[in-house]
Amino acid sequence: MTEALLSVRDLRTWFHTDQGVAKAVDGVSFDVHPGETLGIVGESGCGKTVTSLSILQLLPQPPAKIEAGSSIRFAGDELVGIGEKRMRALRGNEIAMIFQEPMSSLNPVYTIGDQIGEALRLHRRMDRKAARAEAIRLLAEVGIPEPDRRVDEYPHQLSGGMRQRVMIAMSLSCEPKLLIADEPTTALDVTIQAQILELLAALRVKHSMAVLLITHDLGVVAEVCDRVVVMYAGQVVETGTVFEIFSDPRHPYTRGLLDSLPSVDDPGQRLVSIPGTVPNPTGWPAGCRFRDRCARAGEGCEAPQELVALAGEGRAARCWRAES
Ligand SMILES: Nc1ncnc2c1ncn2[C@@H]1O[C@H](COP(=O)(O)OP(=O)(O)OP(=O)(O)O)[C@@H](O)[C@H]1O
Ligand SMILES: [Mg+2]
Repeated sequence: MTEALLSVRDLRTWFHTDQGVAKAVDGVSFDVHPGETLGIVGESGCGKTVTSLSILQLLPQPPAKIEAGSSIRFAGDELVGIGEKRMRALRGNEIAMIFQEPMSSLNPVYTIGDQIGEALRLHRRMDRKAARAEAIRLLAEVGIPEPDRRVDEYPHQLSGGMRQRVMIAMSLSCEPKLLIADEPTTALDVTIQAQILELLAALRVKHSMAVLLITHDLGVVAEVCDRVVVMYAGQVVETGTVFEIFSDPRHPYTRGLLDSLPSVDDPGQRLVSIPGTVPNPTGWPAGCRFRDRCARAGEGCEAPQELVALAGEGRAARCWRAES
């Protein structure tokens, strides 16, 4: 396999609060290879966003602290402790990001063209005229109709799906090597969601960028990802290719997520959701962190669980029964 573009090793991002230490991300490791789409999936509160904000070094510090021993390597550089100035040069340049709610990342008082243009002037040193022409071209590329008119509109004049397209156009403006997309389609209705995912998949190939896609929805993962990292309670609990995860899930949590997907064959069928909720990160349960919610829990689950390597490249599950 090619050398990883992004290599996260034993990442621990903890919040030091008055209520205690919230170990939101607690020993996470994974790689993203050039040009691939890696999905990070898990329920609310598993630490997906804190992982992505750690990569981008956009956490509130304090109370957040990336603990000693954590490593995030991007294209050969160590990002932990890199300093804001060098990080700012990487952010929006080599690593771009899009979030769930595009409105919160767009400035309501500037036109779309001004905002994309600013990124182009800053990162690609274009003059005003060239930046406007390039902004129109980018809007067309992300499928915005009448881009030469839309370029002069304000964010509130666009629909949610269109705003997300604008965010994608902005993130493409400096040809990033890695795009981090945190729940990019969660706020959109199903048809628009499918269109945005299709767009991301096409752009990834065209621009040969890697995508780190964060979602709570395995359906989204199935559509666009090559490999999957399943997170639970601040840890990686299973990794594999999309095919392996869907055809042969080894961690009971992954099985639970799959069982709660609507069935294509029988859409009317009642969904089975995993009982209980993700525990609080200030006090992860001792032993297997999924034990309280696991139908198969029993003897052997009181011990903290290690990732067990399984047959298949990079395939692993954090369950002592993973091989059976
Ligand atoms: N500023 C903060 N201070 C204290 N704890 C925080 C802070 N931000 C996040 N956390 C904690 O970190 C944990 C992980 O949060 P995170 O946002 O990464 O979850 P997530 O997997 O992205 O969930 P969602 O699907 O809801 O977006 C949460 O339990 C949350 O309480
Ligand atoms: Mg999140």
